[in-house]
Amino acid sequence: MWYSLALLLFISPTVAATTDLQTNCTGPDRVYNGTSCYVVVKPGIRHSAAKLLCNHYLGYAGHLYRITNAAVQAATRQLISTYPYSTAWIWTGLEPKNSSAALNDNNNWGYYFRNGTFVSPTYRPWQSGQPAANTANNRVYYDPQYDTISNRAENVAYFYICEYEEALKLPVTDLEKKCVNLTSSSVLTSFVNDVCYVLQPAVTKFYSDAKVACNALNGYDGHLAHVRTMEELWIAEALRSAANVLIVRLGIAQTNTSSTDPYTGWYLTTPTNPPELTTFLPWATSYPTASMRTIGVTSGYPKSFASLSLNTAYPFICQYESLTPITTTTTTTTTTAGEASSTKITTLKSECMGKAGSHFAYSSCYFLANISGAQATASDYCMNQGGQLASLFGEDLVSQLGSLFLQFSSVQAWIGLKVTGGKLKWMVDNVPHALFKNISTPPTGSECYALVSDRSSLNAIENPRLSPMACSASLQQVICMKSDHIYSSYSIQGGKKVIEAESPESVTTEIDSGGCGARCSEIIGCVGFNFNPSDGSCIPTKVSPAMPSVIDGVTTYTVEIESSWNFYERI
Ligand SMILES: *[C@@H]1O[C@H](CO)[C@@H](O)[C@H](O)[C@H]1NC(C)=O
Ligand SMILES: *[C@@H]1O[C@H](CO)[C@@H](O)[C@H](O)[C@H]1NC(C)=O
Ligand SMILES: *[C@@H]1O[C@H](CO)[C@@H](O)[C@H](O)[C@H]1NC(C)=O
Ligand SMILES: *[C@@H]1O[C@H](CO)[C@@H](O)[C@H](O)[C@H]1NC(C)=O
Ligand SMILES: *[C@@H]1O[C@H](CO)[C@@H](O)[C@H](O)[C@H]1NC(C)=O
Ligand SMILES: *[C@@H]1O[C@H](CO)[C@@H](O)[C@H](O)[C@H]1NC(C)=O
Ligand SMILES: *[C@@H]1O[C@H](CO)[C@@H](O)[C@H](O)[C@H]1NC(C)=O
Ligand SMILES: *[C@@H]1O[C@H](CO)[C@@H](O)[C@H](O)[C@H]1NC(C)=O
Repeated sequence: MWYSLALLLFISPTVAATTDLQTNCTGPDRVYNGTSCYVVVKPGIRHSAAKLLCNHYLGYAGHLYRITNAAVQAATRQLISTYPYSTAWIWTGLEPKNSSAALNDNNNWGYYFRNGTFVSPTYRPWQSGQPAANTANNRVYYDPQYDTISNRAENVAYFYICEYEEALKLPVTDLEKKCVNLTSSSVLTSFVNDVCYVLQPAVTKFYSDAKVACNALNGYDGHLAHVRTMEELWIAEALRSAANVLIVRLGIAQTNTSSTDPYTGWYLTTPTNPPELTTFLPWATSYPTASMRTIGVTSGYPKSFASLSLNTAYPFICQYESLTPITTTTTTTTTTAGEASSTKITTLKSECMGKAGSHFAYSSCYFLANISGAQATASDYCMNQGGQLASLFGEDLVSQLGSLFLQFSSVQAWIGLKVTGGKLKWMVDNVPHALFKNISTPPTGSECYALVSDRSSLNAIENPRLSPMACSASLQQVICMKSDHIYSSYSIQGGKKVIEAESPESVTTEIDSGGCGARCSEIIGCVGFNFNPSDGSCIPTKVSPAMPSVIDGVTTYTVEIESSWNFYERI
């Protein structure tokens, strides 16, 4: 018994399988220690450039190394010992967590992942007197001679060590291979979260040319980079500073070229899809400026958006990602029965789009009104306007409406989401609420919802959200909607047949000849339809491949790949 336990203890370390990373981590320039492989690289290079070059092993999101403990410090020091210690200074991955805060604050230094989030180390072998307060010294190197770290300006050329961690391992995708393969002295790349970012510092273009120039990777969805979060901004800033250019273009434009308000109305753009409103606008000092209709990243992270003229040539960041199998292709209108295009302008749409404070989406015009009253009063008001309380047919509407209406004032407005019969439902058709994943049943006494968005300053990143309220509360605003109810705003998803568990509902009236008839009496009841062009058959359907297939534990539909059917989804 004791003998076998001892034997077990003795043999167990040797049965641990060697990992792929361990197997491959061989050579005089690399060492495996703990659960990471470290690769030392020379000659020296600027910190910003070095951090994009950790691609020795794909699939591990390589990054500049972390001196997480004394063992790693000793192992990597040993690795460097093939060079004279007095000259071998090594960049680490430490960066300031808050560039406005003091650099001599030990706690202001973190190790960044490629995706822009960081971990705060507990082990920090600073040389005495370090970190220094000098704001230019915003990166950290390891000095093997003294076996300590110090902060230094990022633009000096030091060696660097890349680290590849077992914990970050992911399957290597075709996109990652192609992305890294694009890298050269004139092409900078960064592969993060299944997205390949590409910047060619020497290639500059006007906005309209740059917008259609992201074609380096065949078979992938390429467009000017979208920056919607602080993490994405970090990625864009990493590319900009590696390129050592002042400004790089992004895929963000103010689509209303008559607008006189430079703070709002910014959209994420692609060459093909409809623009998408964005509210993440971290303007750099003295930006935005009037009549500049596009956005780039300049120095000043984390406040680094610059408004740019359409017609000035700048370098630009492209982003490539996988085309998902159910990606919608914008319909180019043909006369085929049942087909419809989002470009159709209806009276409602043209009136809505021409009116300040109105927003057209999902075949509906959303507008804000001043009232004073409970939710029932708000509902009556909308009815009197020929509409109804707003039901939001997409989660994107929360931020779109929130930021749009913020232009006028802070928003605390009734919408048509309410607990009825114990279930959260959109008032439009009394179906159980199923559109947004993370809204749970509100607390008792707060059965009605309002859309809330706080205006603190024009520059602030607002936080529009849906908030439960007592239905009897008196609010000063309401969001109403009027709906077109026609199939003018659908995108086609080729080769899909959606089969509902329940029998398909009947169509009330029609617009297009032949096909799927096309007026819906109740908007949610007609979220999409299936059309088979070969025989003109049609199934209006409440569901779409983009929505959950299980509602209240019941499978409501299945999706089959079926080339003779098209699925039309409301856009
Ligand atoms: C790493 O090792 C595995 C075998 O363990 C091998 O299949 C793979 O190709 C290697 N990868 C690299 C990047 O060398
Ligand atoms: C890491 O390297 C240090 C220094 O060489 C060594 O003492 C330690 O045992 C190594 N740890 C592992 C897990 O390999
Ligand atoms: C960054 O530091 C500044 C100055 O200390 C401070 O005012 C600000 O709140 C900090 N920002 C964050 C996000 O912690
Ligand atoms: C960034 O990557 C790290 C490591 O994979 C992960 O822990 C973290 O959640 C990621 N952050 C985001 C915002 O995805
Ligand atoms: C990498 O690029 C070279 C030419 O630049 C090309 O021949 C090769 O096929 C590429 N490899 C991959 C995996 O795309
Ligand atoms: C564009 O902006 C102008 C000026 O602010 C405004 O009058 C007009 O209604 C806007 N057009 C649209 C379609 O929003
Ligand atoms: C609502 O009232 C606010 C001030 O209370 C005013 O600024 C705004 O223009 C009004 N909005 C509408 C749509 O009447
Ligand atoms: C959903 O959850 C995310 C993350 O927790 C949160 O930021 C967002 O505001 C939530 N959305 C709504 C509509 O409550």
